Amino acid sequence: MADYTISVINGDGIGPEVVAEGLKALHAVGALCGHRFATREYLAGGAAIDAKGDPLPADTVKGVLDSHALLFGAIGGPKWESMPHHLKPEAGLLRLRKALGAFANLRPAVVYDELAGASSIKPEILKGTDIMVVRELTGGIYFGPGGITGDGANRVGINTEVYSQPEIERIGHVAFQTARLRRKKVCSVDKANVLVSSQLWREVMIEIAKQYPDVTLSHMYVDNCAMQLIRDPRQFDVIVTTNIFGDILSDEASQLTGSIGMLASASVGGPVGFFEPIHGSAPDIAGQGKANPLATISTVALLLRYGLKLEREAALVEAAIRRVLASGKRTADIRQEGLPVLGTVAMGEAVLAELKRA
Ligand code: IPM
Ligand code: MG
Repeated sequence: MADYTISVINGDGIGPEVVAEGLKALHAVGALCGHRFATREYLAGGAAIDAKGDPLPADTVKGVLDSHALLFGAIGGPKWESMPHHLKPEAGLLRLRKALGAFANLRPAVVYDELAGASSIKPEILKGTDIMVVRELTGGIYFGPGGITGDGANRVGINTEVYSQPEIERIGHVAFQTARLRRKKVCSVDKANVLVSSQLWREVMIEIAKQYPDVTLSHMYVDNCAMQLIRDPRQFDVIVTTNIFGDILSDEASQLTGSIGMLASASVGGPVGFFEPIHGSAPDIAGQGKANPLATISTVALLLRYGLKLEREAALVEAAIRRVLASGKRTADIRQEGLPVLGTVAMGEAVLAELKRA
């Protein structure tokens, strides 16, 4: 009998390649610490459209809900871009987040000293940056009422930013509790000078903060935050923000770390945690064996930490990644002059070798 059942969705593009390396790390840390992980594969995104005509088949949701955690690769690609909106791979991903009640998306952006030179930002600005973006994931403009109305040249496209007080409260609590385990600072990012939904967001954050007197709350408009992230990223500890602002700011934060190929994410709050690298399916390099698997291996660490509450195991995986980077190994996206560039499998194997030495 396995101790844990892990659902696996490889997805499209580089998804299967990076997930394969993530799973090797999962099983290796299991062997090291005496846990057995049984994995069950499900379809979502383009692969599910091809096989079943639906980007999120019902048996996927059912199976995932019946497991301990979900490891997700990436979905989407040019092949499905012209599908009707509700049948696009991305629509399946959004439905899955909603179905799992995964309202809190944690996106850590940590600058490894070894990679400070790989970013387009000056290393002296970056060194020591360690930010946790807490993105609201099942509300806001992604899920508000909208559609395209009218005819011909008079068509109107509408999306609506909607946040209820309970939705803001629950993401606020996640942010403050996360900050308590870190440097005890929360920066709430909104657009309260223009949007009333942001005004409510800010009021509720101020109210929630009273329950966390040990944590300092500040506020920042999203445009300023986009600027501050590259001007002085070390000022941030936890950033809590809406679905769409978090989507944009987390991509920006990924560039501080050198590459989007490094960033993991955990989506929690529902019965089963959902763990995915923040990069997409990268169709341009799919099947070439050169994608960086480190985001997915870091995602496995988050799955262990937040999904299964196995902190020691998570730390072992993260330490192995650090040692691989310290040893000078790189993938193409984080290449540095004079250092060897490894493919997906070789990088995965390098992490495994470090794990086994632990
Ligand atoms: C992300 C992605 C998704 C999002 C897309 C693929 C729907 O950009 O996870 O950040 O916008 O949430
Ligand atoms: Mg995104």
